[in-house]
Formats: sequence, C-alpha cells, structure tokens
Amino acid sequence: GRTAAVIPAAGRGVRLGPGTPKALRALNGTPMLIHAVRAMAASRAVSLVVVVAPPDGAAEVRTLLDEHPLADHDPTEVLVVPGGGTRQESVRLGLRALTDDITTVLVHDAARPLVPVDTVDAVVAAVHDGAPAVVPALPLADTVKQVEPRTGDAAGEPEPVVGTPERALLRAVQTPQGFDRATLVAAHEKFAAAAREGEGATDDAGLVERLGTEVVVVPGHEEAFKVTRPLDLVLAEAVLARRRA
Ligand code: C5P
Repeated sequence: GRTAAVIPAAGRGVRLGPGTPKALRALNGTPMLIHAVRAMAASRAVSLVVVVAPPDGAAEVRTLLDEHPLADHDPTEVLVVPGGGTRQESVRLGLRALTDDITTVLVHDAARPLVPVDTVDAVVAAVHDGAPAVVPALPLADTVKQVEPRTGDAAGEPEPVVGTPERALLRAVQTPQGFDRATLVAAHEKFAAAAREGEGATDDAGLVERLGTEVVVVPGHEEAFKVTRPLDLVLAEAVLARRRA
C-alpha cells in the first residue's frame, strides 16, 4: 500500500504572538506550512499529503498551496480539509480524507517545517519493517521536574516540585510520527470523545499507547524542532540560511 502524510495546521499559534495562524506565518518569505508540505513530499515514500486547515480557512489554504506548487516532476497529491478545535480532532478529520490504498500514515506538525527527509524516511522504514507506531525522538538537554500546578487564588505562586524523573530515561518526541493506518484510525476513533472532554492526547502515539499497542522510538533530528515561541522563528530562519550557504 501507499504512504500518506497528514499535516495538522489548524492551530492558532497563540504562544508565537498575535497575528496570522501559526502555519501561515512566513519563514524566509515562505509560509511554514509550505515548508512542512515540501518536507513530506521530499520523501519518495509519501504519495499523498492531507493538510488540515483552520476550520474556516480551507479555501485560503488551498489557494496558498496552489501558489506554491511542488516541483514539476513531483507526483505527490495534496488535499485540504477543514480541522477542529484540538490537534487530536484535526488529525481525526484528516484521517477521514485518506484514500483506500493508503496503508501507512505519517502525522506531521505544520509547526515542524524543517524536518530533514532522512528522518521522514527512517520513520517510514520502521513502520514498513513491522512497527505499528514509530516516533522520532531525542534525549533531553534540560533536567525535567514534575510540579503541583497552582490554580485559582494560588495561581502565580511558586509551584512545589513533586519529583524529578531520571533524565536518561526521557525522550523529547517529534514528528512525523508513523503508523500502520488501521492502528492509528482505531486509536483516533476510540478516543475521539476524550479529546472533546479535555482528556485528549498531545501526540498521536499517545493514543496508540492508550490502546495498549507498542510504540517505538527512532532517532529524531535537532532540525525537527517545533516552532512555538518567537525565538524559534529566529532559529528556523538561521537553519534555512545555513542550508543555503
Ligand atoms: O499547539 P501545538 O504546537 O501542539 O500544535 C501542533 C500542531 O497541531 C500545529 O501544526 C497546529 O497547527 C496543529 N493544530 C491543529 N488543530 C488545532 C490545534 C493545533 O491542527 N485545533
């Protein structure tokens, strides 16, 4: 079967500051979403890309994609569907647009525009080798603390530390995450209500874990970082400049 990539791009990107939805913000003059689509289409394994647009922005995103066509010889098909109120809901809506011949699915954040094609290919290869769920990940630079969040009247007061997980056992996970299609669809259907009740997952592999299905990690890449805060835009443009040099 063929491989598709679903790109959730319906987020507002509040942490990046006010303005255009994050995926439509430019990096060196080209919208982040376009970089992300190209990163998926660059893999010879990927023959279909489903872009999940803001719920009221599908027409605008379609126009943007038409203004930034893939290379002439690239046969990758690009579809656009409207997204939902959470990342999980957006991915579920994207999965509904897959054609019948797709057996492997990547899910890739529009907010990770610079992932190298070798990382994409490594994820696809691990799924083709039989893993139902594969995530690219890196060791952590920072030590991580679990805290007791302050709420209500106590909001803003220092938060008590509850524990320190052993850093060597932790990984920061990236995208694209790769899945056997049936496994990913089953996970999204089973836990769709959880997302609506605020108990959704922040990544797709998290849903597959809840199914009780094994998830494995392959090496991620530092250029697959997520553009979340303003400083990340500076870093992303520096990475692009270095690639051109
Ligand atoms: O908010 P976060 O950085 O976790 O978003 C990760 C990805 O999920 C982004 O590409 C964002 O556009 C997407 N997203 C979405 N639908 C939402 C919220 C986020 O497609 N409702």
